Amino acid sequence: MKLNITCIPGDGIGPEIVAEAKKVLDKVATVYGHEITYKDILMGGASIDVHGIPLTDEAIADAKSADAVLMGSIGGDTTTSPWYKLPPDKRPEAGLLKIRKALNLFANLRPAVLYEELADACPLRKDIIEAGFDMLIMRELTGGLYFGERRTIEENGIRKAIDTLTYDENEIRRIAIKGFDIAMKRRKKVTSVDKANVLDSSRLWRKVVEEVAQDYPEVTLEHMLVDNCAMQLVKDPAQFDVILTENMFGDILSDEASMVTGSIGMLASASLNDSKFGLYEPSHGSAPDIAGKDIANPIATILSAAMMLRYSFDLDKEADAVEAAVKAVLNKGYRTGDIMSEGCTLVGCKKMGDLLTNEIV
Ligand code: IPM
Ligand code: MG
Repeated sequence: MKLNITCIPGDGIGPEIVAEAKKVLDKVATVYGHEITYKDILMGGASIDVHGIPLTDEAIADAKSADAVLMGSIGGDTTTSPWYKLPPDKRPEAGLLKIRKALNLFANLRPAVLYEELADACPLRKDIIEAGFDMLIMRELTGGLYFGERRTIEENGIRKAIDTLTYDENEIRRIAIKGFDIAMKRRKKVTSVDKANVLDSSRLWRKVVEEVAQDYPEVTLEHMLVDNCAMQLVKDPAQFDVILTENMFGDILSDEASMVTGSIGMLASASLNDSKFGLYEPSHGSAPDIAGKDIANPIATILSAAMMLRYSFDLDKEADAVEAAVKAVLNKGYRTGDIMSEGCTLVGCKKMGDLLTNEIV
């Protein structure tokens, strides 16, 4: 099969981790007889440095012409980097929001899994994690507060900022369908998270999710208020299968969920449109403080590449092989600094990439 992939190495540790993911993908291609072509584009700070803006129209066109996009990370230190002296719509993050909208990537899948091998790194009490946990946050990614009208004005000498939160039923329906579809392939439970005791957008969300649920009689649906959900994630994470939620709630809850796994350096993500196209990136950020030191953990990006093989190319066997390689390398006791524990062997970013590559045979 021919795989036409656009890469966004990005900023901070992005270029290093994407390089390792390419290494693994190339090995997959050799072993399973595929042909990969890559094209790199600039986004975030890397694009600002060259073009003055975080994402050009040419870069969007390149991304659109690919079968899938593999991304590292974007952004820098918000207190020291000159990128954050620019107006908000010229900063690195604006590039990410723009590409999501331009490619219609409305469904963001963020798995949060407790790796048995890394259970010691989990910050939760042992009795809480005894049952393990494996949840998937399905976050709406192109609507809500992050894309609503916003402005800052002055009224009678008082500065005032306005952000608007809007959802129409079609936006809610399409993400709900994605959530239920994926629940059917998992443990068949959807927890829809909202703030229906306060927000109109949440009340509509709840109604539309209930309508969609009618078509999935096998799936158990429950509703949970977002503040309670934040608490439940720490109290009893095993109760969750698919968490279905709007953009900002999903942003916040997915960071919390990844932290409770204790291994954010391991967590992948996919942002999909309504065809097979997707943008795949690790759940973590650009970690500018450790960039260029060959100590970053490339596993989240490599697992994102596995998600790409699975969701954009239907190459399940190949995706399984990458995931199995990760398990095998962890079982052999190799760790990057972020997941290191006593008795294990500390390795750098490149070495981890090599070890994973060698497991794919
Ligand atoms: C994420 C990030 C982005 C978001 C930022 C960088 C705009 O936090 O992917 O979760 O809020 O969506
Ligand atoms: Mg976030």
